[in-house]
Amino acid sequence: MSNTDRQYDLVLWGATGFTGTLVAEYLTGTYTPDELSLALGGRNEDRLRTLADDLVADAQKWESLPIVLGDATDREGLQEIADSTRVVCTTVGPYTTYGTPLVEACVEAGTDYCDLTGELNWIREMIDRYHEDAVEAGSRIVHSCGVDSIPADIGTMAVQSASVDEFGTPCDLVRLYVDGRGGVSGGTVASAVAMFDAASTDPIARQALRNPYSLAPPGERTGVDSSEQRRPKWDPLRSVWTAPSPMAAVNERVIRRTNALLEYPWGREFRCTEAVPTGSGIRGGAVATLVAGGFGLAAAGMTIDPVRAGLQRFVFPDPGEGPSREQIESGHFAVRLFGRGTATDGPFVVEGTIRADVDPGYGATARMLGEAAMCLVRNETATPLEGGVLTPASGIGESLVDRLRDAGLTVSVSV
Ligand SMILES: NC(=O)c1ccc[n+]([C@@H]2O[C@H](COP(=O)([O-])OP(=O)(O)OC[C@H]3O[C@@H](n4cnc5c(N)ncnc54)[C@H](OP(=O)(O)O)[C@@H]3O)[C@@H](O)[C@H]2O)c1
Repeated sequence: MSNTDRQYDLVLWGATGFTGTLVAEYLTGTYTPDELSLALGGRNEDRLRTLADDLVADAQKWESLPIVLGDATDREGLQEIADSTRVVCTTVGPYTTYGTPLVEACVEAGTDYCDLTGELNWIREMIDRYHEDAVEAGSRIVHSCGVDSIPADIGTMAVQSASVDEFGTPCDLVRLYVDGRGGVSGGTVASAVAMFDAASTDPIARQALRNPYSLAPPGERTGVDSSEQRRPKWDPLRSVWTAPSPMAAVNERVIRRTNALLEYPWGREFRCTEAVPTGSGIRGGAVATLVAGGFGLAAAGMTIDPVRAGLQRFVFPDPGEGPSREQIESGHFAVRLFGRGTATDGPFVVEGTIRADVDPGYGATARMLGEAAMCLVRNETATPLEGGVLTPASGIGESLVDRLRDAGLTVSVSV
């Protein structure tokens, strides 16, 4: 069956999960059944029906919402789901545990796909196993469509486009400064644990976490950037102290994959780094030192099997749990981008910002994933790539920017 001749536009897989429910609320609150043929997918019929009833009552535009049932481990059932829809949007994680059969089914069906994974080991596995088949099938497998890594990846692309338009050349460095306040869900913790579990037994997974170019295509996994920042550092570009960013490992690798997949429009010497600014002076330095110390301890703890298991069991929220609605509404984030290049007239700077007054990992992420899925549904992509295991910028591109703005995010670039 051709991709345009399907029963649904979009199956939201994992709709009953913590983040899946937020995405379902966003989509049904924003779009009408005339604009989107949506089905809610998951493993628990009662919970799916209750969710569908609640959404119909709340959104008031929907008379009913179809549900599709399956299990993430049932490959045949997943094939039926992938065959029934133009796009699958999935929040079923850990992706390392549950994600692979669905990607395989989507590639086989030529179905487009987007998710929220930040599990580097698993993205690397999907690249190595399915990229070529997805190119051939014309299936866009777009990973990391949440706060990691849409602001970093799409923001970098927007800065580079402005740079080329204004100065005739891309920036050779884009530095990202991440700031914000938000919560964490049990599903996110489970995914981090799954990634470190994989790294404790699988050398390729370990390499995916260590090599800054681990998500680049095979044969291109080296470059000028070194590992993400792990210590407090004085930043001469902004005259501030900086600490390591928890999202840098994913965001930086995703941006490098974008550059590689698009055949290096920003050059092979292009560099990108991400950090958390902590202020100037003695206080800024002290905060950077404290944050870096805490980050280092947490990262070291996650590599020790019993510590990792204990943290998940006794400290972090369980799967299905996450920040309260009040916490989500009172959160905020900003990713500021500072691009630096050299044109014939001399050095130049391009700056960008993506921000929102809502929790990054859940409130903003639900909008980002929902709009990424809508770009795929409507075929609103601004990229030469029509298939493959892709990043947000290489798989969707700048057509996402207007949709992010419509969803309440601020996206700006200035030269
Ligand atoms: N990149 C980002 O910015 C970002 C932001 C937020 C979340 N995330 C990621 O999103 C994922 C989900 O997080 P979350 O907090 O929403 O997790 P969650 O609440 O635990 O939800 C997980 C979902 O997976 C479903 N599921 C589990 N096992 C299944 C199976 N065998 N078959 C079918 N469905 C199954 C669950 O179904 P039930 O409802 O029936 O239990 C639930 O719907 C995690 O990987 C997290 O890291 C990423």
